[in-house]
Amino acid sequence: MRPTDDRRTAAPASPASPAEPPWDALADAARAARERAYAPYSRFRVGAALLDEAGRIHAGCNVENAAYPEGLCAEAGALAQLVLAGGRRILAAVVVGEGAEPVTPCGGCRQKLREFADGALPVRSADAQGWRGEHTLAALLPASFGPGHLARPGGDDGAR
Ligand code: THU
Repeated sequence: MRPTDDRRTAAPASPASPAEPPWDALADAARAARERAYAPYSRFRVGAALLDEAGRIHAGCNVENAAYPEGLCAEAGALAQLVLAGGRRILAAVVVGEGAEPVTPCGGCRQKLREFADGALPVRSADAQGWRGEHTLAALLPASFGPGHLARPGGDDGAR
């Protein structure tokens, strides 16, 4: 998607649903988190916000490291907050970054999101000016591997 300046500020069309996610609040949380990013190496600051099944919003920012591969993505930080708060489902996700292309979750983070969401999860990209795009998790991570693949009939899956 290559939005024009006009379309940048408009919310993408989304199908009507019984409970539309609080997109503006999610974007605000992700933008605030992005302000706290620690990205001295890439200078690419990212914020993320996730909506859980209780209607709570959990945010995170990227945290880089002098040992580059040890850096954390914003989505991973937000996910840790969600789980720590007792959340187990992601109903909506927003990623905020700056650049020519809308920022979507990296491959590893797509899989991390998949653990707590199905393919219908809406993932929106935004920047400081407005919305940049929306994808389902299924579009970002087709034919995904998930917890269902490990489910054992009558077994304990280890999740609480
Ligand atoms: N990054 C994120 O935090 N989330 C994304 O969705 C894409 C990339 C971070 C990782 C690294 O700190 C910086 O952006 C540049 O890749």
